[in-house]
Amino acid sequence: MPLRKALAALCLTVCCGGAAMAREQSLQVLHWWKSTSERKAVDLIAQRLGEQDIGWRDGMIPSGSGVGAGIVLRSRMLAKDAPEVAQLNGIVIRDWARLNLLLELDTVAAAGHWNKLLLPTVASTIQYDGHVYAAPLGIHRINTLFYNRKLLARVGQPVPTTWQEFERVAARLQQAGIVPLAQSSEPWQVATLFETLVLAEGVDLYRNLFQKRSAAAYADPRLAAALARLRSTKRWMGSPIQERRWEGSVREVAENRAAMMVMGDWAKGELVVRGLAVDEDFGCAASPGTARYHLYNIDTLSMLGTHPELRPAQEKLAALALSPAVQADYNHIKGSIPVLRNPALAKMDACARASWKLFASSAEAQVPSLVHRMATDEIVRDAIVAEVHRFFLDDSVTVADAQRRLGTIASTFTKTK
Ligand code: GAL
Repeated sequence: MPLRKALAALCLTVCCGGAAMAREQSLQVLHWWKSTSERKAVDLIAQRLGEQDIGWRDGMIPSGSGVGAGIVLRSRMLAKDAPEVAQLNGIVIRDWARLNLLLELDTVAAAGHWNKLLLPTVASTIQYDGHVYAAPLGIHRINTLFYNRKLLARVGQPVPTTWQEFERVAARLQQAGIVPLAQSSEPWQVATLFETLVLAEGVDLYRNLFQKRSAAAYADPRLAAALARLRSTKRWMGSPIQERRWEGSVREVAENRAAMMVMGDWAKGELVVRGLAVDEDFGCAASPGTARYHLYNIDTLSMLGTHPELRPAQEKLAALALSPAVQADYNHIKGSIPVLRNPALAKMDACARASWKLFASSAEAQVPSLVHRMATDEIVRDAIVAEVHRFFLDDSVTVADAQRRLGTIASTFTKTK
């Protein structure tokens, strides 16, 4: 194409695109969903929003578990350049609402009867001081053990339900030249494994450490046992243990190089998008010793009150998140479960159904994830993750030392109500 013609074509595209942009409203959305399945889930919401003539300007900050996204959001707020929508999970909703930075969504919630639709724990997570500050998308189960069926069958081993059994199964896998546990040394991924190990030591211990932050719990020998287990589990992780995104571990399991993986069930979304089928190629069970509990986090979107003229569009996005079709389709791709009291259970796979049934069974079964921002203040969460990571990487740090330092972290900061 001659240059002048090409320029004219380009101008046409830009001008028309610009005019279209000016006609429709659009929202910039800050989030950290980068993997293929996460991207697919985001695209689905963006497309459904587009059907209502609202554009989705994507602000993805790649940072598994969202630490980087949080930093970017804070600096953009300070620079008065906030996006209209942000993924702010759990405790962070409360922190930002308290500072008056979020739009309250009471009208949308009342119009959509959210109090009747939502599982009670979800309803309370999105509220602060009696007002609604986030639109919930899905609930993930963190204490999930993914296993490659072919590899376990090859060594004739069952799915381990305790850490003692895990040791036996892992030894057999290793003898057969298979990496027993796919794991990254990224801080949040190490800490995600660690919180499942703490839960296996006792739900009372978990709640006292991470929700109540009681000093006595930090001196409990079971915390030492969880730390020791974290260290001893390193020998089943292949060597060297790489610092990689979580999709790297998913790939190892999918390509029959590693047999198991402990990870939130967003990993299921990624296994499925790679062409593997639930119950045929891989299965999901509770991470060892935690079958009675649902260690959870809830993905939510909050609206920032930066442009009053965009409020109707923001409210439409909030309402859309709760529509039965988005709940079913989005969570199917993402690996999570709907936040609803009456979801379409028949459309779910076996992992999702088991997850939803356990979560909905009782408040006692629900355990909020520390690492994924459901249990305690952000500053304490960050410090615990860093300490656990240091302990994991450096074998010269003793269990007693790490335990003492975790106790100091928990008692140094006053707990925000
Ligand atoms: C979690 C989030 C999940 C998933 C994961 C890894 O914090 O809740 O939706 O995205 O991080 O990126």
